[in-house]
Amino acid sequence: QLGLADLAHRHGRYFGSAVDGPALTDSPYLKILGDQFDMVTPANGMKWYATEPQQGVFDWKDGDAIVQLARANHQRVRGHTLVWHSQLPDWLTSREWTASELRAILKKHTFAEVGHYRGKVYSWDVVNEAFNEDGTYRDTIWYQTLGPGYIADALRWAHQADPHAKLYLNDYNLEAIGPKSDAYYRLAKDLKAQGVPLDGVGFQGHLALQYGYPATLEDNLRRFTELGLDTALTEVDVRMQLPATDEKLAEQATWYRDLTEACLAVRHCVGVTVWDYTDKYSWVPGVFPGEGAPLPWDDQLKPAYYALREALD
Ligand code: G3I
Repeated sequence: QLGLADLAHRHGRYFGSAVDGPALTDSPYLKILGDQFDMVTPANGMKWYATEPQQGVFDWKDGDAIVQLARANHQRVRGHTLVWHSQLPDWLTSREWTASELRAILKKHTFAEVGHYRGKVYSWDVVNEAFNEDGTYRDTIWYQTLGPGYIADALRWAHQADPHAKLYLNDYNLEAIGPKSDAYYRLAKDLKAQGVPLDGVGFQGHLALQYGYPATLEDNLRRFTELGLDTALTEVDVRMQLPATDEKLAEQATWYRDLTEACLAVRHCVGVTVWDYTDKYSWVPGVFPGEGAPLPWDDQLKPAYYALREALD
C-alpha cells in the first residue's frame, strides 16, 4: 500500500515527521517512518544546546544521526532551528553580551551549522518563534541585544553558508489570519522588498481541539504565496483533553483532513510535517498535563491517519 508520502507526491507535496533521539533505536517505529514519510525534521538534534554545547565547540552527532537515517530512507531533511530563544546552551544565556559579541556568536554559529549541513538539508527554520501573539517582537536575547535586524542578518548568513537551502521563518499560532500572522506577513513583505533571502514561512500547526479549527488557514497560506514565498505546515499535531473519546478522535481526524486539504489547495504550500507521527513520542503530555493523543498513530492507526489518506487521495 502507498504511504502518506507517496500520496502527497502525486500532488507535488511532501509528507514529513519530526524524529528525536529516543526513537532511533525503536525498529517498529523506524519501519513506519521509512514507509510513510519522505521528509524528516530533527525535533531537538539540530538546536543550539545540542550543536554548540560549549562556546566554539560543535557537536553534530544528534543531527548527523538523523541525516544518515534520512539518507538511508531516501528522505529529505528540514533543518530545525538556527535562531530561537529556547533550548540555548548555558554558556550563551548565563551572561550578558554586547551587541557586537552576540552578533559575532550568531554569525559563527550560523556559518558553522549551515556549513556543516550544506547540501544535506532541504530547508532551514532560520528564525523560530520571533513574534508574540499580539504581533509585537518577542523579547528574546536576540531582539533585546541586536534589535529586529537579527532576522535579516541570520537569513543572509544562512544563505551564504548554503545557497541552495530554502530559508524559513517558523512559528506557532500562525494558522489563522490575525495579529501574529499579520506581523509575519508584513515582515516577509519587507524582507522580500529589501532583497533578503527568505524562501518560506512555516506554520507550525500545534492545534488543540478546545480552541477551535483555524478556518482562515487556506486564505492565510495563500496571501504568503502571493508574496512569492513557499509555505509549509511544519509541526502539526492536534491535541485534546484526555481521555480521548471516539467523538474527539473523529473531530481530530476532520482537522487533519482539513489542514491537509488547505495546503493542497494553495500553490507553493510545499508539504505537511507532523510533530512526530505517534502519540508515543509526542511532546504534548509533558507540557500540557491532562492533554494528549495529538498524532495520527498510537499503538495502531487512528482515525486521523485514514483522514490524511482521504485528503491526499
Ligand atoms: O536532554 C534532556 C535529558 O538529558 C533530561 O534527562 C530530560 C529530563 O527532562 O530532558 C531532556 O531534555 C528535553 C528535550 O526535549 C530533549 O528530549 C527537555 O526536557 C524537553 O523540554 C525538550 O522538549 C522539546 C521542546 O521542543 C522544547 O521546547 C521537545 O522534545 C520538542 O519536540 C519541542 O519542539 C518544539 C519545536 O522545536 C518548536 N515549536 C514547538 C515544539 C513543541 O514544543
